[in-house]
Amino acid sequence: MDREALFGQAVEVLRENDRGAYTVPTKGLYPFQWNWDSCLTALGQAHVGERRAWMEIETLFAHQWEDGMVPHIVFHVHDEGHFPGADVWRTNRGKTETSGITQPAVAGFAVKRLFDRAQDKDFARAKAHALLGKIDRWHAWFYRVRDPENTGLVAIIHPWESGRDNAVDWDTVLAHVPTDGLEPYVRRDLQHADAAMRPTQDQYDRYIWMVQHFRALGWDNAKLHDASPFRVVDPGFNAILIRSCADLAALADALGEKDIAAANRAREEKGRDALETLWSEKHGQYVCFDRVARALVDSASCGGLLPVFAGVPEARIKALARRVANLARRVSYIVPSHDPDDPRFDAKRYWRGPVWLIVNYMIADGFRHAGETEAADAIARSGLALIDRGGFAEYYDPRNGSACGGARFTWTAAMVLEFLQYDMEEALC
Ligand code: GLC
Repeated sequence: MDREALFGQAVEVLRENDRGAYTVPTKGLYPFQWNWDSCLTALGQAHVGERRAWMEIETLFAHQWEDGMVPHIVFHVHDEGHFPGADVWRTNRGKTETSGITQPAVAGFAVKRLFDRAQDKDFARAKAHALLGKIDRWHAWFYRVRDPENTGLVAIIHPWESGRDNAVDWDTVLAHVPTDGLEPYVRRDLQHADAAMRPTQDQYDRYIWMVQHFRALGWDNAKLHDASPFRVVDPGFNAILIRSCADLAALADALGEKDIAAANRAREEKGRDALETLWSEKHGQYVCFDRVARALVDSASCGGLLPVFAGVPEARIKALARRVANLARRVSYIVPSHDPDDPRFDAKRYWRGPVWLIVNYMIADGFRHAGETEAADAIARSGLALIDRGGFAEYYDPRNGSACGGARFTWTAAMVLEFLQYDMEEALC
């Protein structure tokens, strides 16, 4: 497909899912505003309207909690089509209901990118300035409540926080999450997507048990970390946060906010050093750490490639580039969300194998930053080839490129606009 046609189609998907001041990930399956979807979507929106892009992130931050957390879902409307809805979360934090957990902190990165590229500099300066303190409060929240031992790395307390809901990474940890006392419920996702492409019932039961457990604790973040049977240090999640701290520090410098710059630079530096504790020689990439069992998790997923986005040392970047090249020899489209030789790999099941364009985007960005342009181009090229093959899907089978999950997906379209921008003309020809 030629670039212009592709551009036009991606913009059309964004328009379809635009609800005025926020964008839904896709109709039906996800009828509300999701945290990291919105921030990455804003990057795509900026190609057609900068003001709308800033608004997307502003709307999200208007629902920041008093303690600093930015929730993973904002329930702007009532919609029975999604489970669990506001009536299950019952967080009662504001006029508009939200979920009670968070998601990967891409906002710092996204806002810096919007600011750097802005045509309307005065407008961008005012918007960035207003968001700066809010994002800083979110970052401070992470290190305060999710790193109580001051290690430099934060834990997630629910698989949904990672954004990689049913990744193989969580299997051994989820096995320790009980299901007794689970209230009866009806899943809604299976009305919109094929069950073979979604999490299993057993996983869902444990997800919902944790929601009930946290709700019983009043969603009090001073208690939730220690009270959760699921506490995992995910290299991907931390890498995104570290990159956002670095970008927020640079943005704060540009806006003359010295304290915010210093605080975020300290978080960034400490976090980057601490990432080293997650390196696995066996897999040639990073892996998760289970804070309950106090052990590394034996699972080679795309979360362990994302540290490239945080700007890790050169030797690690080179090793990760070798790892991606190795994956590319075993599947037709990169980057698979899990190692295809692992018996737990599942080419169509959500985060257990499929390719996701947002992950491709962040990994490619890290390689590009580090001067590994070959790896970056290969990943971006694969992403665009998937669109040709399967349209703007939620995710894709890495063996044959077929479309999986929801269709006409917002952040997939936003990433296409970004990849087109990425000066990829030569690589694409
Ligand atoms: C799924 C994804 C998550 C995403 C959400 C909305 O839950 O795993 O990463 O934010 O859908 O698209």
